[in-house]
Amino acid sequence: MLAIDGGVPEIQELASYPWPKRRAAWQDRMMQQFMSGKLSVYDKSGVIAEFEDSWSELHDIDFSLVTNSGTAALHSAFYGIGLGPGDEVLCPTYTFFATAAPLFQLGALPVLVDSLPDGSFDVTAAAALVTERTKAMVITHMWGLPGHMDAIVEFAAAHGLDLVEDCSHAHGARYRGRLVGTFGAAGAWSLQTQKLVAAGEGGVLSTRRRDVYDRAQLLGHFNKRAMKEMDPAGPLYDYASTGIGLKYRAHPLGIAFAVGQIEELDGWVRGKQPYAARIADCFGRLPGVTPLTMSDPERVSAHYALLFDVDPELLPGGRDWLVRACNAEGIDDVDIPKATSPLHTLHLFQRPISPVTTYDRDCIRTDFPVADALASRTFKISVPCGPSGFEDEDERYYQAVLRTVDKLVAHLATAGAGAELSEAVHR
Ligand SMILES: Cc1ncc(COP(=O)(O)O)c(C=O)c1O
Repeated sequence: MLAIDGGVPEIQELASYPWPKRRAAWQDRMMQQFMSGKLSVYDKSGVIAEFEDSWSELHDIDFSLVTNSGTAALHSAFYGIGLGPGDEVLCPTYTFFATAAPLFQLGALPVLVDSLPDGSFDVTAAAALVTERTKAMVITHMWGLPGHMDAIVEFAAAHGLDLVEDCSHAHGARYRGRLVGTFGAAGAWSLQTQKLVAAGEGGVLSTRRRDVYDRAQLLGHFNKRAMKEMDPAGPLYDYASTGIGLKYRAHPLGIAFAVGQIEELDGWVRGKQPYAARIADCFGRLPGVTPLTMSDPERVSAHYALLFDVDPELLPGGRDWLVRACNAEGIDDVDIPKATSPLHTLHLFQRPISPVTTYDRDCIRTDFPVADALASRTFKISVPCGPSGFEDEDERYYQAVLRTVDKLVAHLATAGAGAELSEAVHR
């Protein structure tokens, strides 16, 4: 009997994928930082410089700047490209709200755009929303799957828009071999604890543009760093010693924990590909369950999570029953991403406010049928990557998922087509 109907749960441990991993070498690096007594790093030096230089080298990009969150990195990117009151920014509705929310701090207005069925940015939907005020666009590589970058870059160029990539789900993801975060004016990554490169809290911005890097220093890295890093001949240098009221420096202990992860990133993304295929096969045995964010020949997903669609016509009870049934068996990682509700359903985007301006236009100017379907029909699950030393742990997690789905498949076979699946379906 299924646990959701009162049976014994299949899984007694390992309810969710263990991440981040803990390596002795990362702990040593953290302890070394701790013992140095340098718990604030005022300029581009030490472990902060080490992280930024490794990040820039990996991405083959000129400038990287570590911040204390992904939200701060996005704010810095938006300030970096010069956005302010009156400007409009095309932004996916299907994303986490921090992709767009920093725009309110600048008085710029996000204009929400529907998605393609795989959750990526839809340039055709965006085209209808361009106005004389549109200055930039931000996209999110949702769940780690890169957007269709050829079309996106072409669209941005055709409309003269600066492109910001929110890569918070997509560390190490590649489009036609090129790492995401390198296609536009700036890339921004969260380094929050669940992310592929995890500092606990933190973020990083990368750019090829000197002006974007300079303005980002000014926003959150006043005094020593801004004075050393900003171009003394630049228009804002006189403000470098004070900045303009914010401080976005990261905690060096978090960055010390994360810095050794960068060299492993490519291997992790490679390791996720076969696991994503196995998880897709595993859930694919359930009627109406289809993976939406698999890698394809152009796009290598970082598989922050794998997203599935559930067709309620084919699986009675649909997505909600399936998630409850998996959770009851002991797998918490099968999840409806509630924090990632489409932005048009959130009060902030329905009634936008800003500390620096009042808005005379709306964020919501159209319908969002694709994002609404994604929100109502999909679930996500973590994808292991089997890093060296953690192969057994990751395989155990996959086997727990497999056993859970096996049990559901067997239940459906006995219940028979059209028969009552479980009590919960009818609740
Ligand atoms: C897509 C996306 N953008 C931005 C953020 C914000 O990052 P942080 O939590 O580090 O501020 C997150 C983090 O959860 C995210 O998932």
